Order: sequence, then C-alpha cells, then structure tokens
Amino acid sequence: MRISIIGSGVVGKATGIGFHRHGNDVIFHDIIKEKLFMLKKQGYEVTEDQLEAIHNSSISFICVQTPTLNGKMDFSYVKKAIVGIAKTLRKKRKYHLIVIRSTVLPSTTRTKIIPLLRKHSRLIPGKEFGVCVNPEFMKRASALNGFLNPWRILIGEFDKRSGDVLETLYSPFKVSVIRADLDTAEMIKYVANTFLATKISFFNEFFIICKKLGLDPHFVAKVVSLDPRIGEYGIYGGRSFKGSCLPKDLEAFINFTKDKKLNPKLLDAVSLINKKMKKCESLTAKAHE
Ligand SMILES: NC(=O)c1ccc[n+]([C@@H]2O[C@H](COP(=O)([O-])OP(=O)(O)OC[C@H]3O[C@@H](n4cnc5c(N)ncnc54)[C@H](O)[C@@H]3O)[C@@H](O)[C@H]2O)c1
Repeated sequence: MRISIIGSGVVGKATGIGFHRHGNDVIFHDIIKEKLFMLKKQGYEVTEDQLEAIHNSSISFICVQTPTLNGKMDFSYVKKAIVGIAKTLRKKRKYHLIVIRSTVLPSTTRTKIIPLLRKHSRLIPGKEFGVCVNPEFMKRASALNGFLNPWRILIGEFDKRSGDVLETLYSPFKVSVIRADLDTAEMIKYVANTFLATKISFFNEFFIICKKLGLDPHFVAKVVSLDPRIGEYGIYGGRSFKGSCLPKDLEAFINFTKDKKLNPKLLDAVSLINKKMKKCESLTAKAHE
C-alpha cells in the first residue's frame, strides 16, 4: 500500500520505516526540513509538500506532537495537520484513510478531528474518506523495535471499511488486532499510560517508606516483582517518571476528567508522589554538586 507519514518524529519515523520494511511504499512529510533530510539520506522518500504526500498515498498516519500546555492537551499541531489534509482531500476526491497515531484525549477524533475533516474537505466520512485511531504503545528509546514487535495492535474505527483497510495493512504482523470504536481506542491509550505512571508512583511511595524504616527498597521491590502479575517495569523506586509521554498524558487526562466534574483521586495522588520524587531528586543532585 502507499502510505504517507504526517509528522516524522519518533512515532512517525518508526511507523514509516516499519511499514516500509513490510513492503509498503512510504512517503515522509514534516514541517522540519532537517528531519526529512536525515530520512532522505537513509534512502527514504520524503516531501516538504503535504499535498504531494496525500496525493501519493491512500493512507495517512498523523503522528504530530500533542504536548500538554497549562494542564491541557495542545490540539493545535493536530488541527493544523488535519485542516491541511482535508483541503487536499477536497481536490483529490479519492477514498483516503486518515489514521490518528498521535495520543489524543477520548472523543477528540469524533468531536474535533472528523468535524474538521468534514468541514474543510466537504466530503462524507465513511463514504469518501475513512478515519481510524491507532495508538502507539512504543517506548521512545526503542521505537522501531516497539513498532515491529507490538504486544497488540489497537484499531479504533469510524466504520467497518476504515478498520478493514487498516487491519489489512497490519496483516503481516503476527499479533492480535483488537478493534474498537474511536473513543474507546483513545481511552485505552490513556489507561495504559496512566497505569504505568501509577505503578511508578506506587513503588516510589514504598521507596520512601522503606528508606524511612531503614529497609532496602530495591530488594523489597525485586522480590515483589517475581510475581508475574506484577512484573519488573517501574518497580525500582527513587526516580520520578519523566519522558515525553507519562507526565504530559497524566496531567492532560487528570484535567480532562476534572473538566467533566469527575474526581480522579488516585491519579491526583500519582501526580503528587511524582512531584515529591522530583523534589527529592533535585535535592539529592544539589547535595552532590
Ligand atoms: N515518543 C513516544 O515514545 C510516543 C509513544 C506513543 C505515543 N506518542 C504520541 O505520538 C505523538 C507524536 O509523538 P513523537 O514523540 O513522535 O513527537 P515528535 O515531536 O518526535 O514528532 C512530531 C513531529 O511532527 C512534526 N509536525 C508538527 N506539525 C506538523 C504538521 N502540521 N505537518 C507535518 N509535520 C508536523 C514535528 O515537526 C515533529 O517532527 C504524540 O501525540 C505522542 O504523545 C509518542
């Protein structure tokens, strides 16, 4: 299949290179020339022109950033990319599948992205274009390996046709493909990331308690983790969670639920413990200066 990658950063690059390895034609697009230059040097097809990317593909993966600004998900990058694509689709007038890879809060695709696509393309979703949400669960440090060896593939679909096209693309991956509606797929990504954050804060809380009691927190955690239901991820306390996803997704999700008058007490505590841990780290760093 012919695929375009809109946003060739960590996720876009891994997705595009991964699909290329599976025999697809991939064209990368980004607003930063240097990113395209590097990909071109590695032999990949690139374009600075979004229109060219859309015209030369039948599926576009939207992989632009969704940072958290003042506690809220910044939708501006997705919006800009989507409006541009919609205007191009208006001229293309050939069925095209839009796949949202960026992490977006539950209901974003249904209530914001599809209306934008509809408005600026004047096309009918499900008939003239398809839409899927396909969250990525990879780790930044091993993005390509994570893409090529996923634990599961999650497809949120606007309609059956959209899901079928994306599932066909993923058919060489020997792993279960789970299909859901758009909102559910978006929610699953946040549940996964906030759970990982929760696990880290949980073990950080015990790290602090063990230290206060004169016990070895790493030995305690290691023995606890031998239960396969618990596992080793995030158990070695003493460090806050950082990285490009967990802090921003936790914060955006907490505020998302608060806006809906829900009160995520556990997630608030997870965030609080992380702030406490961060403070401990900076105090330790200062003490070592
Ligand atoms: N990094 C991870 O490990 C990871 C894992 C899972 C999900 N995600 C999610 O995937 C999304 C992308 O993350 P990332 O780490 O790849 O971000 P990134 O910053 O590495 O890449 C985003 C790219 O999009 C480009 N871009 C922005 N606006 C554009 C536009 N209008 N047209 C074309 N390109 C545009 C940027 O220049 C940048 O190169 C985010 O929503 C993130 O939360 C990231």
